[in-house]
Amino acid sequence: MAKIALKVNGQPRIVDTDPDVPLLYVLRNDLELNGPRFGCGLSQCGACTVIMEGEAVRSCNLPVSAARDRSITTLEGLGSVAHPHPLQKAFLKSKRRSAGSA
Ligand code: FES
Repeated sequence: MAKIALKVNGQPRIVDTDPDVPLLYVLRNDLELNGPRFGCGLSQCGACTVIMEGEAVRSCNLPVSAARDRSITTLEGLGSVAHPHPLQKAFLKSKRRSAGSA
């Protein structure tokens, strides 16, 4: 076990965990952020994707120690209801368009 400092969605966080545990498990199990999902576990599907230092990374195969002192953004950190991220706006627009065609 080791204490690992992360910056998640703009907030400093410290987790006490095995440094080899995938970042995905720390985000979901320790920090209760369920935006990143487990899909394939093989870095192929993208369900676990987060943004680390501005780059999209697959968190299912990234040891949490590789994220030490790095800035990580999950879906939860993209925007808010009052100020949605452009990606969230696109999803909402797409959802409304789909609902209108049904
Ligand atoms: S779970 Fe599929 S790429 Fe990570």
